[in-house]
Amino acid sequence: MADINVTIDADAVTVPAGTTILKAAEKAGRQIPTICYHDHCTANGLCRICVVEVDGVKPLVPACLNRVSEGMKVSTSSTRAERSRRTILEMLASAVDLSEAPEIQKFIDAYRADTARFPDAERREYPVLDDNPMYLRDYSKCILCWRCVQVCAEDAQYTYAINFKGRGFETGIATFFDKPMPETTCVFCGQCVGVCPTGALKPKRESLLEQGLSLDEIMQATRGGKKRRRKSP
Ligand code: SF4
Ligand code: FES
Repeated sequence: MADINVTIDADAVTVPAGTTILKAAEKAGRQIPTICYHDHCTANGLCRICVVEVDGVKPLVPACLNRVSEGMKVSTSSTRAERSRRTILEMLASAVDLSEAPEIQKFIDAYRADTARFPDAERREYPVLDDNPMYLRDYSKCILCWRCVQVCAEDAQYTYAINFKGRGFETGIATFFDKPMPETTCVFCGQCVGVCPTGALKPKRESLLEQGLSLDEIMQATRGGKKRRRKSP
């Protein structure tokens, strides 16, 4: 594969054709913030926290999606990109419970985002869904990053138990027809929980441990009913 020469914040770097700006920047020693991006998921460019400036391109460009081209000049931390990141963080904080999203909390601090900037914003608040012995779904903490949907589909599991529902502010993640999880195709592999960056999906045992239950009580609550005896052949 041909090599591409680019400039990242005045540093020259050579990367294989097809490399994203994000990965080229990493090679140049720059960490561009990401939220929806995950190394093992298809990038969809949903959160836009990773925007950078590219010489000759008017709009800010999401670094996780766009690939480098020969001679490209990228600025990873211009005033404009940083202001945009800060506003995204402020909007997220205005609507979503980020209390269990440590990476996003770090970005809020790093970009000095004012989490109270939009005091009149409507918050996305939903009851916690506790419909199976394996994990809880607290969509008040969901930032719609799409990672869980992707690992449940073509990125890993090919199970298709969850997808987007609704439009605009009402957009959410749900099972088909809002069925309880045990009535879906979910195989409880846990991959969705593993990629969720905000604690919206949480192992039930972890949650019960946090609530102070004993190990015996936790086992009782999560083992999914009595042990069934196998029928003799
Ligand atoms: S539940 Fe978690 S992984 Fe799924 S979209 Fe929401 S924040 Fe992302
Ligand atoms: S990390 Fe690039 S758009 Fe979300």
